Amino acid sequence: KNIAILASGSGSNAEKIMEYFKGSAKARVVLVASNKTDAFVLRRASKFGVPTFTFSKSDLTAGVLTEKLKVLHVDLVVLAGFLLKIPDNLIQAFPERIVNIHPALLPKYGGKGMYGMHVHQAVKDAGDQETGITIHLVNENYDEGKIIFQAAVAVASTDSPEAIAQKVHSLEHKYFPNVIESLL
Ligand code: GRF
Repeated sequence: KNIAILASGSGSNAEKIMEYFKGSAKARVVLVASNKTDAFVLRRASKFGVPTFTFSKSDLTAGVLTEKLKVLHVDLVVLAGFLLKIPDNLIQAFPERIVNIHPALLPKYGGKGMYGMHVHQAVKDAGDQETGITIHLVNENYDEGKIIFQAAVAVASTDSPEAIAQKVHSLEHKYFPNVIESLL
């Protein structure tokens, strides 16, 4: 099976996924694609010898990425810190085949504007005693697709948003590759 990863930033999750499937007979990462030409994820991909592709927002809307993924016979599209809205042309080409990871326990702290540190700050401000990760399928609405997997972690009242982010990242790294494998 062929996996493509879309990421806009650092790509620590992407790295864990590439590591996990390195040398696997079952699946391989055939592409790392980004809307940011200077995203660190592209360097991580090169380190693993995984081909990269960059595209603009208008390319995405016009279906350029969708075409590329089709040509590569991609079976599963993985969003790992990808910050643009997925256009209908991509959703329709890969129905139930696009998976996203969100750094909170959806339906809490989802939707437009809820990404990265905004999420962890919101958890902190609410005084929540736990947070976690959600892995879900992608549909037309932000963070509203079918939930596949969740895992929680305790938040201490003394935790800074950065500390919360670190806990959540550890959970992501621990579970995301496995969940992807189970979807293939
Ligand atoms: C993760 O926290 C993920 O949940 C969110 O973006 C972050 C990406 O982190 N959607 P990284 O680039 O994989 O380090």
